[in-house]
Amino acid sequence: MSIFLDTVKGKKCERPPVWFMRQAGRVLPSYLKLRETYTFSELMLEPELAAKVTLLPVDDLGVDAAILFSDILVVPQAMGLKVEFSDKGPRFEKPLKEVSNPLEHLHPDASFFEYIYKAIKIINESKPKEVPLIGFCGAPLTVLSYMIQGLSSNHEFPDATKFIFEQPELTAKLVDMIVEISQVYAQKQIESGVEAFQLFETHAGLIPYPIYKKLFLPAVEKIGKTVRATGTPFFFFPKGIGNGIVDMNHNIADVVSIDWQADIAQVRKQVGTEVGLQGNLDPRLLLTSPSVIKRELETYIDFGSKETKWIFNLGHGVLPNTPFENAKYAIDWIKTANWKR
Ligand code: CP3
Repeated sequence: MSIFLDTVKGKKCERPPVWFMRQAGRVLPSYLKLRETYTFSELMLEPELAAKVTLLPVDDLGVDAAILFSDILVVPQAMGLKVEFSDKGPRFEKPLKEVSNPLEHLHPDASFFEYIYKAIKIINESKPKEVPLIGFCGAPLTVLSYMIQGLSSNHEFPDATKFIFEQPELTAKLVDMIVEISQVYAQKQIESGVEAFQLFETHAGLIPYPIYKKLFLPAVEKIGKTVRATGTPFFFFPKGIGNGIVDMNHNIADVVSIDWQADIAQVRKQVGTEVGLQGNLDPRLLLTSPSVIKRELETYIDFGSKETKWIFNLGHGVLPNTPFENAKYAIDWIKTANWKR
């Protein structure tokens, strides 16, 4: 019934399914129109509105999956940190770098997420059956980095990285706390009706891979285990993981989402045949023009003709100011190309 779930399960389909990270945002004229009336937080917090925004890209772009309209920073909020979403990005009132005892400062309370489960139920009542809903949360390094640093204007998180290097034991305890609440959150998203679950490790490249592997990868596996125990496919997006990609096989996830720096055909050779792949168009390509986009999309035909456990996506989220027509062009192209399967 769903080309997205069939592909994840290993069924050979006539084309790759397609969706875009951050598809439910500023690329859509319909979203921008809603943003004239509501703030980002209002759209997220009101279940009816969150459900409506979640389904906008299904109607407007024709994607094969919807992703819940929310944010990875709801987990820090549920742990007691105050986060504001301003036009310049998220802002923490008091990041952990300013706190003397972070463990005592945090008060995880999973009941915070109730409004999100409501949105999931509304989405499931109104969405087309063949378009599954993807749930998500942030992965421990990315979530912890925001919690420590607060702002991420330069995407380098210098204080967060310093904190992790200096205080590995405290880091491990904070990671455990994040894992515990993320497991409850993932489980309840699934019980409420999400049919796939993606863990966003957008800042996997912040620290050396050996440290990532020791301090954070076991945490990813714990969340993955909770998701997979329900029979729900587990997607992992370790952006910037570098040569750590060799470890991203089917033991870690059902599908690994690949950033645009990597050669996806090369990645397939490194990770074995069992794990699904997702990716990996450079999102900046969508800022160009249909002829340039077409030229790059054509380079995927060879890979996609042989590779049927592959979901087309970007190597990171859609960028602000991406012309809607370009995003739509790429999606239509993927759906109508001759994949020679
Ligand atoms: O993918 C989707 O369409 C679903 C919804 C979604 C959002 N954020 C909505 C959003 C998802 C999956 C995220 C994940 C997220 N949020 C990540 C990890 C993945 C990634 O893209 O890097 C991170 C690091 C965040 C934290 C965050 N939220 C930042 C840094 C920002 C500001 C920068 C930006 O891109 O706007 C946000 C705000 C945010 N989250 C918006 C949206 C649609 C923009 C809100 C607006 O201005 O209308």
